[in-house]
Parts: sequence; structure tokens; C-alpha cells
Amino acid sequence: MNVEREKQAAAEAAAEYVADGMTVGLGTGSTVAYLLPALARRRLSIRCVASSPRTEHAARELGLSVEPFGSIDRLDVTIDGADQITPDGWLIKGGGAAHTREKVVAAAADQFVVIADSTKPVEALRPPVPLELLTFGLSATQRRLRPVKLRGVPASPDGGVIADYLGPVDDPARLAARLSATPGLVDHGLFPPELVAVVLIGHDDEVERRL
Ligand code: 5RP
Repeated sequence: MNVEREKQAAAEAAAEYVADGMTVGLGTGSTVAYLLPALARRRLSIRCVASSPRTEHAARELGLSVEPFGSIDRLDVTIDGADQITPDGWLIKGGGAAHTREKVVAAAADQFVVIADSTKPVEALRPPVPLELLTFGLSATQRRLRPVKLRGVPASPDGGVIADYLGPVDDPARLAARLSATPGLVDHGLFPPELVAVVLIGHDDEVERRL
């Protein structure tokens, strides 16, 4: 298994979902790093929104047009990686701490395309689940979310503290509802199947499409 080749194959297949004139959400991570040159090579006239400063910088370096996500109210397609993918389409994202913005760009898109190598599919989700927390009331929020651990990485571009929920993820819908209902939590890395249009998984010699 060549994981880098698998990421590249999935990313290049995803670039085909983008057509001239589209608005495109760009995710974050090492798989998306293969998407950006694949998109740039197609020389399309597209308007992009980036889910992180890292992606924004890399996309601009390749000549892609990146706009602030304030004035565009919907996207045609968003393409992003994932840390875990279940057979029924639940994702865990946020290994790169960008999950809050990634969820915003995924939810704004008509089509959310997930790209991954063959190490990402799992039978069942397992911790950690990435979190972003407000600094205000941080200790109280941490107490309500136990077991939780601060990640010790820089704050998000929106000033949020990055942490990980370490408890069981046996019932992702229930856990997602509980996390979303916790005051002080900005967002979490559980992405429901309803958000996902297609998952492209690179394998040694083919790209598997899960709809
Ligand atoms: C960043 C993410 C990434 O999409 C996820 O961590 C997958 O990254 P990679 O493509 O590097 O494996 O959610 O917050």
C-alpha cells in the first residue's frame, strides 16, 4: 500500500467534480494538498473558499482564486479529507484542528466530496473526537465534557481552544447531539452521513466511490 499515491488518486478523482464557473470549498490536510495542484492544473475559472489559512496560502500560491467566506452564501462543491469513515458515512474530522471551519464549508455546499486513503475507513468510530472550545468558561466546559484533553496546539483562526473528547463514540448521533448542546463548545469533529454526498477512497490501483 502506498498511502501517498492513494491520497493523490482520490484527490485527482475529486478534482473532476469541479466544473468551470463553480464556487468551491477547500478542506485542510495532506490529502487536500494533492487536490490543490490537481485543481490548478485544470485551469478552470472557479471561486474558492478555504477552510484554513494553510489551505488558503497553498491555493493562492498555485494561482487559485480564494475569497473570504463572508459574501458567498452557498458553494457548489466542497472537497475535504477525513480521519475516520464508517460504512454508513459517519466521519471524524479535525485531526488538523480545522473541523469547525471545515463543517461550515461542507454544510454550505450542494455536494460534499470526501477524499481519503485506504487507512481511513473503519468499522466503527473510535476516540478521539476533535473539539473547539471557547476560552470563556473553559474549565467549566471541560468539566461538562469529561473525559476531555486540551491538545496543546495553537488556537483556531477564530480564537477557539482545540481539545479532544476521549470517551466512547458507540452512538455517534447521540454523542454529536450531546456535544452540540454543550455551552462553550464551538463545534466538534463528528460529521453526519446527511452532510456527505460521496466518499472517494484511494486503493492501490483504483478509486472506490461510496455514494
Ligand atoms: C483537518 C481534517 C483533515 O481533513 C483530516 O485530518 C484528514 O487529514 P489528512 O488528509 O492529512 O489525512 O479534518 O482538520
